[in-house]
Amino acid sequence: MTTAVAGGRKHEMATYSKGLEGVIATDTKLSFIDGEKGVLEYIGIPIGELASHSTFEETVYLLWNGRLPKANELAEFNATIRKQYDLPPQIEAMLKQLPKDAQPMHAIRTLVSAMGLIDQKPNANDLPSIREKAVKLLATTPTMLAYFHRHRSGQPFVRPDASLGLAENFLYMLNGAKPTSTMAKALDVCLVLHTDHGLNNSTFTARVIISTLSDIYSAITGAIGSLRGPLHGGANEGVMVMLNQIPTVAAAEAFVNDKLAKKDKIMGFGHRVYKAYDPRATHLKVLAKQLAQDTGNMDLYDKSSAIEQVMATAVAAKGIYPNVDFYSATTYHCIGLPLDLFTPMFVVGRIGGWSAHIIEQLADNRLFRPDVDYKGPHGVAYTPIDRR
Ligand code: CMC
Repeated sequence: MTTAVAGGRKHEMATYSKGLEGVIATDTKLSFIDGEKGVLEYIGIPIGELASHSTFEETVYLLWNGRLPKANELAEFNATIRKQYDLPPQIEAMLKQLPKDAQPMHAIRTLVSAMGLIDQKPNANDLPSIREKAVKLLATTPTMLAYFHRHRSGQPFVRPDASLGLAENFLYMLNGAKPTSTMAKALDVCLVLHTDHGLNNSTFTARVIISTLSDIYSAITGAIGSLRGPLHGGANEGVMVMLNQIPTVAAAEAFVNDKLAKKDKIMGFGHRVYKAYDPRATHLKVLAKQLAQDTGNMDLYDKSSAIEQVMATAVAAKGIYPNVDFYSATTYHCIGLPLDLFTPMFVVGRIGGWSAHIIEQLADNRLFRPDVDYKGPHGVAYTPIDRR
């Protein structure tokens, strides 16, 4: 559609799409999504392959370098991350001052932003500097979360163990005991599945911010703010709240039908891009079932399954299927995460993707500055205050 834009200029090519639906705003070599076929690939590798064979750290290397690492490169990358697990003392001191009743998403957003305060060159956007800062954020965000949780529950901090991978070390710092290999692997798989996902809202936010040649701390702080929303990463907590509201498996059908009748959204369903089953949900469904069986939480899995069946009859024809957040709720619960750490866990995984997009944006930057279709009045006379 041709449209008049601010300043009176005419853009013959300008198209209007509310919410930028269907608009291609940049190009990327990082992740590919076919929403009709339910395909997701990172650097061309199907997500199921990575979830089955890779680790979170290796997946981040893949996205940051455009290829899988050789064994020595992965060992070096792992060592670089592990060396930086613990928090800088100023950040730890700040964390101890945070209100204990603060929500973890607000805590992690604040602490990531604060990392810019103690960086001697916070605005350096050359590639080596950005990679260095990205590794620091990747390594420290799990520690921020684990320490914040222990701070609010009055428990002493458990220092990181550099012999452990990122997911395993996080659960160790959170609980004060080494997790079973099944739990550590399950969390690692969740992080792989959450690492990147095209130009989703938070990734777009990060790219918009860095496109002003701002800094990585500002870009990732903004992205965390975006991810928190219930229409984006916040939906995984919404799913758990919903599962807790449904007393029994038998009550699921009436609960969902009642919500649909009121035109309420069912959390964990639907997607702007997928009109087929989200491939991440396919993987998480299997994982959730296995963990639910292992931990005596089959009621949660069965309730989820019942909700999915009702939705399949009611709305699948509209292309609404479970998304990544639906079965991740049961998965995180079975891993033993408190409900309000579900979305922060998404942050930990997505730092890998946001950083990759920041690197990609800086390599071929163009300021994001869309036009707007002005609908207001023109030429209005200024009314003095005593005559209004
Ligand atoms: N439950 C019931 N109906 C739905 C749902 C849902 N979860 N999602 C979409 N619909 C219906 C919606 O009511 C509309 O119906 P109609 O055409 O009859 O009015 C139709 O499907 C299109 O919905 P929309 O809201 O215009 O579609 P969208 O592209 O803006 O929505 C969405 C995408 C994710 C915001 C939406 O599906 C939603 O709100 N889902 C629930 C929240 C959620 O699970 N978010 C996580 C998204 S995946 C992870 C991530 O990227 O963060």
